[in-house]
Amino acid sequence: MLKVKVIDHPYAQAILTVLRDRRTSQIEFRKGLVRLGRVLGLEMVKELEVEECEVETPLGVKTRGIRVKDLDQVVIITVLRAAWPLTEGLVKIFFNAKQGVIVAKRVEEKGMRNYEFEVDVAYVKIPTITPESIVILSDVMVATGSTADRALREIITHGRAKKYLLASIIITPIALTRLSKASEELGINLTVYSVAVDPEVNNRGYIVPGLGDAGDRAFGS
Ligand code: URA
Repeated sequence: MLKVKVIDHPYAQAILTVLRDRRTSQIEFRKGLVRLGRVLGLEMVKELEVEECEVETPLGVKTRGIRVKDLDQVVIITVLRAAWPLTEGLVKIFFNAKQGVIVAKRVEEKGMRNYEFEVDVAYVKIPTITPESIVILSDVMVATGSTADRALREIITHGRAKKYLLASIIITPIALTRLSKASEELGINLTVYSVAVDPEVNNRGYIVPGLGDAGDRAFGS
């Protein structure tokens, strides 16, 4: 089952605007991704299980509060290289997270067919996943969803998690349709977090209006 949460907070939308701007420098672009990772992480915490607890303050008074039970169950899988700064932001929230990586690349030379790319996976390292795990897939630009779909299929071969969350900056309706089908087929609960849903993918597989090539803008071309 697929759920979609678009983060319309003005703070997030203002950072996205900076990222979209072609004049934004490499370092400011990276910083923006880190900031948005933190925002997405905060939203994701709402999906985690909490329990009530009691603490004593320095005044010797007991007061009730909460503990986020699932915080230790988070496994972040980063699709390199563009999502690296996004994960840096997520880790500010999920400071105990286990981490894995997937090095995947769309085979652009073969072109896009029916809004689908062949995806070449060069390297996968995924920590142990248990039925209690909360898996966060960190993937900045989800244009056709081909890479995210492939990444989810890789991840589930390492064990079944309780929930799967996708952290993205821009996604498209085409990708949402693909990921909805994938979540049904794989029998997983997937929640997509994104700062925008852009309408189009051009014939080179870039999101329009988008923000260009996120990897190149963050790390150089
Ligand atoms: N990857 C990017 O970096 N940008 C896009 O628009 C699509 C995929």
